[in-house]
Parts: sequence; structure tokens; C-alpha cells
Amino acid sequence: MLTLTFLGHAAFLAEGDGKRVIFDPFLTGNPKAPYPAERVPKLDAILLSHGHSDHLGDAIALSKRDGATVVSAYELVGFCTSQGATGHPLHIGGAHRFPFGTVKLVAAIHGGAIEGSKGPNTTPCGIVLTLGGVRVYHAGDTALTMDMQLLKGAVDVMLVPIGDNYTMGMEDAARAVAFVEPRVVIPMHYNTFDLVAADPQQFRRLVGDRADVVILEPGKTHTLS
Ligand code: NI
Ligand code: MN
Repeated sequence: MLTLTFLGHAAFLAEGDGKRVIFDPFLTGNPKAPYPAERVPKLDAILLSHGHSDHLGDAIALSKRDGATVVSAYELVGFCTSQGATGHPLHIGGAHRFPFGTVKLVAAIHGGAIEGSKGPNTTPCGIVLTLGGVRVYHAGDTALTMDMQLLKGAVDVMLVPIGDNYTMGMEDAARAVAFVEPRVVIPMHYNTFDLVAADPQQFRRLVGDRADVVILEPGKTHTLS
């Protein structure tokens, strides 16, 4: 069993098997965050799709606070550990079995610059986490890619951006769902700012009966088994 809590934008808390993992913990500065970073419960791991500030977010501070392991592509983990975080680098296509679940990085088409002059360009990725017997695909900030077809049959729940402009819009996101064929899809990366405004009900109509579209308000939870 796995419980997913939406924390606004692309941030999700995943809890299962007594472990707690966060994706893209952008709380500080996130107008949709349901609570401040200080109130994030104790973490075992922090999974990052890329280094943009709305994804890297509070990762370094939370890793230092909890000793939580930052998992992402090599370049971004190197930056985080240089700032005092705990980390374990992977790279695209690679998986590793951790005490908090199995993490595999998959392809994403996007950018990865860390804001300001403080860090390197980083490789963007999608993340597949297996925890509590449930396989979660966090697509990150990606374009629609043919590579998503490789995930068909390997994903129970897909977290997919629909806000357009920086990522897929909802029509491409619906095609991504058709490629991956998850049981459940949860839209993300929309309505945080005006530039990524989107109607998730329209996305639900586009997906149709291909998957169960679960629309989560920030702070709300969905449990899968
Ligand atoms: Ni981005
Ligand atoms: Mn983003």
C-alpha cells in the first residue's frame, strides 16, 4: 500500500512500508504548498527530477535536517552533496534498491540549470519509485517522448505535468497516459502560477477511460494498493 500526498506544483509525499519519500520538495515560495517546509514530516529520501528551483526547492535543507538521501542524476546529486546534503547518484536508465524502495531514473526532455551561478547544469529525468508494492512514475518536467512507451506495463500511478509552457500541456499529457497505460494518473505542475493555468477536468475528459484520473488539491491524499 502506498499513500501519496500532493504538496502543490510537482511535490508529492509518498509513504509506504514505514518509509517516507518526497518528490521535488518545492515548499518555500510555492503559493500552493499546504504547509511550510519546516512541517514536512521526517523523510527517508528526497527524489529530484531536475535542478530548476521549483523542483530542487527545499531539498538540501530537508536532507540536512533529516539525513535523508537525495536521489537524482549524478550532476544534481553532486551539487546537493557539495552543499552539505546526503546523496546517492544514479543516471538515466539505472535503478538501485534502497532501504526506502527501488528508484529508477528514466528519460525526460527538459532543461536542468540550477538558478544563479551556484551550480552546474544538471540532467533532467523522470523517476520510477517502487514502494509499498506500488510503482509510481513521476514524469518531471518533460515533453511528450516516444520513450514513454517503454514504461508501458511498468507503472501503476503516473504523476504527469499538464500546465503547458514549460512542460507538456494536457493534450500531450493525455497522449503520454496512452503510452504508459497506468491504472491511475494524477495531474501536476498546473495552476501554481498564471503561466501554467490549466483545467484538470479538461485533462480528465481527454484521458477518458484510459486511466483513473485523480485530481488532488494540495494537502490531499490518495491511497493505492
Ligand atoms: Ni523545470
Ligand atoms: Mn518546473
